[in-house]
Amino acid sequence: MTLSIGPDETPQDTLTFLSVLDIILLLAQRAGVFVVQAAGNKGPSPSTLVSFSPWIMTVAASSTDRTYSATLVLGNGLQLQGVGLSGFERIIGFSNAELAGFNISISPPWNMFIKLPLIFGHPTGPTLGNGFLKYRLVFAKDAAKVNNSTLADECQEPKALQEGLVRGSIVVCNFSSGFYRRTSTLDAILATTKSLGAMGFVFAANPTYGDFVAEPITFSIPGIMIPSVSSVEALMQYYAEKTVRNEKGVVLNYGAQASIVEGRRAKYGDEAPVVSSFSSRGPDIIDAHLSLADVLKPDILAPGHQVWSAWSPTSAIGSILTGYNFALLSGTSMACPHVAGIAALLKHSYPSWSPSMIASAMITTASKNDNKGKPIMAAQSPFANEYQPATPFDFGGGLINAAAALHPGLVVNSGFEDYISFLCSLPNVNQETVRTATGRACNNSKRFPSDLNIPSITISALVGNITVQRTFKNVENRTETYLCSVLPPEGVEIRVFPTSFTIDTQLTQDLKMELKATKLLDAFSFGEILLTGSLDHIVRIPLSVFPVSLT
Ligand SMILES: *[C@@H]1O[C@H](CO)[C@@H](O)[C@H](O)[C@H]1NC(C)=O
Ligand SMILES: *[C@@H]1O[C@H](CO)[C@@H](O)[C@H](O)[C@H]1NC(C)=O
Ligand SMILES: *[C@@H]1O[C@H](CO)[C@@H](O)[C@H](O)[C@H]1NC(C)=O
Ligand SMILES: *[C@@H]1O[C@H](CO)[C@@H](O)[C@H](O)[C@H]1NC(C)=O
Ligand SMILES: *[C@@H]1O[C@H](CO)[C@@H](O)[C@H](O)[C@H]1NC(C)=O
Ligand SMILES: *[C@@H]1O[C@H](CO)[C@@H](O)[C@H](O)[C@H]1NC(C)=O
Repeated sequence: MTLSIGPDETPQDTLTFLSVLDIILLLAQRAGVFVVQAAGNKGPSPSTLVSFSPWIMTVAASSTDRTYSATLVLGNGLQLQGVGLSGFERIIGFSNAELAGFNISISPPWNMFIKLPLIFGHPTGPTLGNGFLKYRLVFAKDAAKVNNSTLADECQEPKALQEGLVRGSIVVCNFSSGFYRRTSTLDAILATTKSLGAMGFVFAANPTYGDFVAEPITFSIPGIMIPSVSSVEALMQYYAEKTVRNEKGVVLNYGAQASIVEGRRAKYGDEAPVVSSFSSRGPDIIDAHLSLADVLKPDILAPGHQVWSAWSPTSAIGSILTGYNFALLSGTSMACPHVAGIAALLKHSYPSWSPSMIASAMITTASKNDNKGKPIMAAQSPFANEYQPATPFDFGGGLINAAAALHPGLVVNSGFEDYISFLCSLPNVNQETVRTATGRACNNSKRFPSDLNIPSITISALVGNITVQRTFKNVENRTETYLCSVLPPEGVEIRVFPTSFTIDTQLTQDLKMELKATKLLDAFSFGEILLTGSLDHIVRIPLSVFPVSLT
């Protein structure tokens, strides 16, 4: 089951794990359902998750190595990089083979491209230079019927613009106050420029507001977003040079030209994955006071940025996508189905595995390195170039690896009773609430939340020392000998017992880990325990520890 929902805000009156949704998901997991939930799109600040419980597989989102770059070529040869899934001069004669890069077939909006006439007979007719058809460039503010109208400058209203100037031209629409206040839309730009017969549009950043974030989107007429102010400044300078005005500033002659070059061809090879800035981050929390939980969240990373998938052409969300059968969308919701699909693959291979065994196989075999062999980075802002090495609070175990998850070597398992014990062990939990919510009464057995048998260790307040135990099961067919090694978090000393063990197929082995604070820190630090098998299985247990007191 894959879920793209979570609470808008942390439950006020109960613990995160005891919300109605989380309890329903606990019952689903008891029924054998593997529950995948989106981490949330509230990153990159800490503790922005909307998925909390250890019986849920919480998925963070990353980029992939695929990019789409669009280009605006100016009459002077200058090429400005932008964003937008549309083309211009190659529209006619676009073959399916050329479209193959999108992994989609031609859907109605692409057909519209093909039908778009090139206006050769037009008075401002296009000129052919450098192999590109160039069109007259008109800033919307110069084509305004009324001076200083935001609706005109931002191309929000056909009636605000002079059709004679817009028709057959590439019109430049400004990111101005309306977009800043979110009252103007890209949909309206598209509708306005289309209805006035523009050959295309440029949606340009505004120096007053700085760069904006542009995600590739399919446009039903040629269009390009230029989100970088420095590129737009070059455009403005070229336009000023070529535009003849009278002393009052009224344009007498438009001399600037441009073409919007193919933006639909994908390029591969970007460093990826990178944890997306919007992807919600750990640490996990227990309640609305942001008390920290001894549970690692998110659990895993999967592609969730600019993912092509099926789209309902009648969908009411985002009229800019109306009519399309495919859409390119971003969010942890897009990451979840990757994990659900791999869970189905594992369940098919190993029908007897419980949901928590499936989760364990995924988490302990996930990759911490990107496609260039470097540690996976996490974006700290929607703008480029603000990255930090990802921690388990960004990506859990790391990037999901389907092939490795099929052969995890060892897995840990937890069931309904274990989760009840976990709930009962929470600090200050009302045991009656647990009974009411789950139908099970708490024992008085002394346990800690970190005792839950999950494939990670998270200690939100390490005071002196603590010993945690995990029980591993050999799910492979052969006997294997494992060596345990530790990469301790800063400020923590860790001893593992035993340091090596030989385990027969289908049997279990307990591993005790003693964590001791050696240095006080003002934040979590991270490490891992590695179990390296003689048959090459590698089981990685992420560690997140906050040492708060030496004794
Ligand atoms: C815009 O204002 C100028 C004076 O500043 C005026 O000459 C011009 O006609 C106006 N344009 C429109 C379209 O109203
Ligand atoms: C710009 O518009 C505002 C109202 O929208 C008006 O008060 C102002 O006079 C206009 N300025 C110019 C220079 O036309
Ligand atoms: C956009 O608006 C700003 C003022 O907010 C102005 O300086 C700039 O020239 C405008 N750009 C375009 C392309 O109209
Ligand atoms: C209660 O204690 C027994 C052992 O004494 C244990 O097996 C069981 O899981 C415990 N139940 C809970 C809810 O803690
Ligand atoms: C762990 O803490 C206990 C006291 O809580 C102490 O008796 C024990 O010696 C400590 N172990 C280590 C290895 O420091
Ligand atoms: C495990 O062993 C059984 C019987 O020896 C065999 O049929 C099965 O294919 C093996 N599975 C794997 C994953 O190696």
